[in-house]
Amino acid sequence: MKGIVILGAGDFGKEVAWLIEEINKREPRYIILGYLDDSELKIGTSVNGYEVLGPVSLLPEISRKQGASAVIAMQDVDARKKLVEMFPDFNAWETLVHPSVNISDRSSVGKGCVICVGGNISCDTRIGDFCLFNISVTMGHDCEVGNFVSIMSGSCVSGHVVIENCAYLATNCTVVPKMRVGEHAVVGAGSVVIRNVKAGTTVMGVPAKVLRFF
Ligand SMILES: CC(C)(COP(=O)(O)OP(=O)(O)OC[C@H]1O[C@@H](n2cnc3c(N)ncnc32)[C@H](O)[C@@H]1OP(=O)(O)O)[C@@H](O)C(=O)NCCC(=O)NCCS
Repeated sequence: MKGIVILGAGDFGKEVAWLIEEINKREPRYIILGYLDDSELKIGTSVNGYEVLGPVSLLPEISRKQGASAVIAMQDVDARKKLVEMFPDFNAWETLVHPSVNISDRSSVGKGCVICVGGNISCDTRIGDFCLFNISVTMGHDCEVGNFVSIMSGSCVSGHVVIENCAYLATNCTVVPKMRVGEHAVVGAGSVVIRNVKAGTTVMGVPAKVLRFF
C-alpha cells in the first residue's frame, strides 16, 4: 500500500476518493492521506472521511516525507494544466482506472489520468496525459486523445475521432466518427458533434452549432 493525496477537495475530489476506495476493494493499493486544496474554508475540514491537509503547495513536501503519489481531482482542464506546470519536477502522478472499466489491451492511457466507473475504451485508441473521463464514458476505436482533455459523464465518442489538448466535452454528448475536436474547444451538454470543431470554439445543440469563439 502506498500513500496518495487528492488535489482538489470539491465534489469531484470526493468522487475520486470513492474511486480509490473501489480500487482498494479489488486489491488494496492506496492509503488516502487526504486532500490538498487552496480554499481556506476547506483546510482542516473533513470531506467524506478524509482531511483537507492544506494548500496544494504542500505537495512536494508531503510526497517527499511520506513517499506519496498524487492525483488531480479537478474537472477544469486549465486548472489541471496549471497544477502540473506548478510542479515540473514532480513525477509521482497516479493514473486511476475504476475496476469496472473495459480498456482494450491495444489501447493506452497516459499518466495522471482518471477514468471513472463504467468506462469503455475500444481498441487502438491512445489517450494522453492528465485526462479525465467521468462516469460511463465510451470511447471508440482508433481515437487520439491529447493531454488535459475532460470528457463528462455519459458521453459517447465514436471511432477515428481526434480530440486535441485541453478540449472539454460536457455531459452526455456524442461525437460521430472521424471528427476532430480542436484544442481548448468546448462541447455543450447533450450536443451531437457532426462537423469538426475548431480550436477554442464552444459548440452546442443537436446538431452542434457554434456558440462562440474564444
Ligand atoms: C458548454 C457550457 C459549459 C456552456 O456554458 P455557458 O458558456 O455558460 O453558456 P450559457 O449557459 O450562457 O448559454 C449560452 C446559450 O447557449 C444555450 N445552451 C447552453 N447550454 C446548451 C446546451 N448544452 N445545448 C444547447 N444549448 C445550450 C443557452 O440556452 C444559451 O442560449 P441563449 O443565448 O439563446 O439564451 C454548458 O452549456 C454546459 O454544457 N454545461 C455542462 C457542464 C457539464 O457537463 N458538467 C458536468 C459536471 S459532472
